[in-house]
Amino acid sequence: MDNAGAGKPLNIAAVSVEDIPEALREETPSLVPQQPSFQRNWLIIGLVGLGSLALVTGLWFAATSQSWLQLVKAENNSSSKPNEFSSTSESPISNSSGAPDIVVGNSGHYAYKEAPLSELQPLVFDGRIKLRKSAAQKFQEMVAAARTQGVILVPISGFRSIQEQQYLFFDIKAQRGQDAAERAQVSAPPGYSEHHTGYAVDIGDGRVPATNLSPAFENTAAFRWLKANAPRYSFEMSFPKDNPQGVSYEPWHWRFVGDRDSLETFYKAKQKEG
Ligand code: DAL
Ligand code: ZN
Repeated sequence: MDNAGAGKPLNIAAVSVEDIPEALREETPSLVPQQPSFQRNWLIIGLVGLGSLALVTGLWFAATSQSWLQLVKAENNSSSKPNEFSSTSESPISNSSGAPDIVVGNSGHYAYKEAPLSELQPLVFDGRIKLRKSAAQKFQEMVAAARTQGVILVPISGFRSIQEQQYLFFDIKAQRGQDAAERAQVSAPPGYSEHHTGYAVDIGDGRVPATNLSPAFENTAAFRWLKANAPRYSFEMSFPKDNPQGVSYEPWHWRFVGDRDSLETFYKAKQKEG
């Protein structure tokens, strides 16, 4: 190599590796003419990199626009415009806790997701009845405590799938000749039952089974015991008399609100209005 080209731009295509002093090859790899396969590899790496960047950006955009849409929906729901659930309305639903997701007649229900099966645990008293693990554990403690005072709490129904609720709402409605509004007062439409969450349980009195799933349950020792003690186990009645959802009084239906997930399940849903 002579100095004939000194001062001129280096024509990389015209030089071979041997043309570059060994000491410079590593420091200035860009001066080393690339082999075709080497260039192809870089091209592939570049394309893959660009593709990944586009994918990540797309996913991020989808996620943020989804949350944004939810936020817009929540904000719209929180507007103070009066609706059928406003406290000034004549509807039995007072709107003190937010608009339900579905309103059938005078009854409003919130949408609930089915609990994952892996989260459910059969109750020791009746393996066919399942609750979320946290709720099952507290329910069992509660039953044991009641038993020490001579009160027999009996689980009647726990987790229910949307398919099971489909039967309870539509098939029973047809059998009884009820219209949808009538049915919705006593049964949630599929997709809207607290039982889907795995946190709700219907409770009977083992000494007075005739009162099972009846308002007369309120006259039992089991109900009196629950009213006095259920909060110690983080259970509360979902549908007391004149509840804001306009659902019939259900003294037998109790829900667990003893951990973050259960509390959010029942109370976040109700905060849509503000
Ligand atoms: N029985 C009440 C309405 C429910 O299933 O949520
Ligand atoms: Zn129930």
